[in-house]
This record gives sequence, structure tokens and C-alpha cells, in this order.
Amino acid sequence: IEYLKESVQPEIGAIPAYLLGDPSVYEIEHKKVFLKTWLFVGHESEIPNKNDFITRDVAGYSVIISRGADGEIRGLYNMCTHRGMKLCRADAGNKSSFTCPYHGFNFKNTGDCIGVPLQKDIYGDELDKSRLGLYKIRVESYKGLLFGTWNNEAEALEDFLGEFKWYIDILAGRAEMEVLGPPQRFIIHSNWKIGADNFVGDSYHTMVTHGSIAKLGMVPSATYSKKGYQIYTENGHGLNLGTPNPDFAFPEELREEYKSNLTDKQYDILCNLKNMIGNIFPNLSFLISHTKIKGQLISNTSVRLWRPVDVDKMEVITWFLVEKNASEDWKRRSRESFVLTFSPSGIFEQDDTEVFTDITAAASGAMPLMKQLTFNYTMGLHRKPDKDFTGPGVVFDDKFTEASQRNFYRYWLDLMTK
Ligand code: FES
Ligand code: FE
Repeated sequence: IEYLKESVQPEIGAIPAYLLGDPSVYEIEHKKVFLKTWLFVGHESEIPNKNDFITRDVAGYSVIISRGADGEIRGLYNMCTHRGMKLCRADAGNKSSFTCPYHGFNFKNTGDCIGVPLQKDIYGDELDKSRLGLYKIRVESYKGLLFGTWNNEAEALEDFLGEFKWYIDILAGRAEMEVLGPPQRFIIHSNWKIGADNFVGDSYHTMVTHGSIAKLGMVPSATYSKKGYQIYTENGHGLNLGTPNPDFAFPEELREEYKSNLTDKQYDILCNLKNMIGNIFPNLSFLISHTKIKGQLISNTSVRLWRPVDVDKMEVITWFLVEKNASEDWKRRSRESFVLTFSPSGIFEQDDTEVFTDITAAASGAMPLMKQLTFNYTMGLHRKPDKDFTGPGVVFDDKFTEASQRNFYRYWLDLMTK
């Protein structure tokens, strides 16, 4: 920890290579970051009905996210309190109670233990079921985005998101949104921070890494310009807004719904948006991307989790989000544009993940050299923020700076060295 304090210097734009490959850093991250902060678990529309549930990994541990008969959403540690068996092995479903596959204890989806096979015969009056309830993990939501944390002392989710909520409103609260289909999941050999770093503030790579896409005519080459804003807020959150855009890439018929859910300033940004890319600390990245499908510009919205599996491995989980009240045709076209760009087979995704895996391979292991090699994060180090922008946070009036990435590492370092 002392070495981290000395060697990681976001203030001068110096981030050492060993952070991406050293197993001991990964171990500390698990305890100090992933067991401490809010982590994304899914979208409310994945469990719209009473007794719907999904199972999700939260910092390496399986959790059942269930909507009770009372409509309330709860997080239950997916471990039987009798002997520790994994209670539910399905990814999703509809159940009012769960029966353990080992000895058959039965738990209501509120967590209460409600049945023990042959209880009277075996235990007589000795067993107090009220003490056998499942462990409950904190789950809170903002604009349909559900987060869980193992940390009972963590601040409320809304406080953790803070000023960043203003931008999340545009992403997930501009209209009633729903997730289409189950999330797509794939494993890549990459350290999770490379994904977060890329989305929180790296507009710079698009011209080169994704250069071929503009050549194919799938996005206007102006998408790769520096025009727009880079913004960060407290707790390591950050984003890039690409603007201005003369074409409204959202369903026309929803303008009124947008206006009623957003402030005038937020609505203005939506109307001028070319794309919006960001990261909610630590590992939930999001994207509103605009693509030309058959000559027509259309937006697609997604969130993605860089779920660490090991120091050099992560599961990428992507959810496609769409306006619930859009026409079926619009939803289909928006989904098509998502699949073409940022799904596992998407053309942007293929470009990015190749870079992520090559960086990880180069920085892997505990090789002493990695402690001497430092990456350069100095872009825009001495720039003054823009005071005129209408939204909250620290704002720069074009996208080509690394302020958001420095902010990400600053907060990361804070947690790691606490
Ligand atoms: Fe679940 Fe025994 S471990 S009933
Ligand atoms: Fe990219």
C-alpha cells in the first residue's frame, strides 16, 4: 500500500504499468474496491413481475435479485444457511420460493426460511426457522439501474452517484427504458480497469482504433472529432459528450416524454448529442452511440459491466436498453445498430477488445520491470475547466483530455490506500 501511494500519481499524469497485471494489486482491489462500493447488478425491467428473479455475481459472489409479491426488490446471498449449498442455479425465472438442492430447505423470496423436510420428526421443537433466513445484501436503484453492495456502511446509492445523476438521467431516465433480451456475456483476457479507463475518458483512440468504421461509412467521420465535452464528478465517475449534432437520432414521437423527464438543459444536450460515453465507478460503462443504418442515423443505448474474473481476465456483460414506448420498428433498428457496433460481434467491440487483451498480455505478471514503466496520462494536465457549461461536474469544452481518467485513478487510489 505504501508503494501504491508512492508510485501512482494521477496528479502528474503518471500511472504505472504494474496496476494492470500484478496479482497483489488485484487482491487488494477485491477487498478495498469491489467489496466496498456499489456494483451494478441489472435493470429493473429484467424483473418486471412479482416473483421474477435474476441471479448475478456481486464481487465474485452469487446473489439472487428478486421482486417479492409485495413488489419490493431484494438481494439475497445465494447460499443456503443450512450447509452453504448454492440455492438457485438458474440465471433468471419466476419463483416465490427456492428449494435447496442439497437437503431441501425452502426459502421464500423475501429470504425467510419457510420449510425444512421432516422438521417435526427430526428436530422436534429444537429448530428456530426464524434464525435461518438468507443473508440480505443491500440493493438500491436509480432510474431503473440496480446496484448492490456488500458494504453495510456504504453511503446511499444516490449519494455515491452524486452530481453524476444529472447525466445518468439522460442515459437511463430520459424516457421509460427497458432491457431487450438477456444480457450478452463473453470472457476476454483483459484487466477490468482498461475497459473502465477507455470509457471514462478515452475519445482519443477512436480516430485510430476505429478508423476503418468511418471509412466504411457506418459513422460520419466527424464522430471522431474532438468537439464536445469531457466531464468528471466526485467518486471517480466521468464521461464524454460528443456534440453538436444537427440530426435528432431518437424517436420523434417521444419528444414530449423526453421533455417531461428531463430539465430544459438536459433535453438540450439530448437534442445535440452525437454520442455519450462514460463510466460509473468502478466498472459500469455506458454508451449512447449513433450509427447510420441504411442511410439513417439512429441511436442505441447500452450499459456494460467489466466484471473482474482474475487479474488478467474479465467477463464483459452488455445490456441493450431502449425506449419502452418507441415503435417496434424503431426498437428493431436500434437493436440492429447495437448488434453491429457494440455487441460481442460488433465492429467497435472487436476493435477495442483486441487492444485491451494486448495491453493486458504486455503488462501481465509481477515482472519487476512493470514497476519502472509508467504510462503517460498528461493530456490536458494544465487546462482550465470550462465554466459556461450547463451541467454539473468539472467540465472541459472538448473531449481530448485525460482529466476523467486521472479522476478515476485518483478515487481508485483513495480507496486502495484507505
Ligand atoms: Fe441447503 Fe442443506 S445445504 S438444505
Ligand atoms: Fe473504442
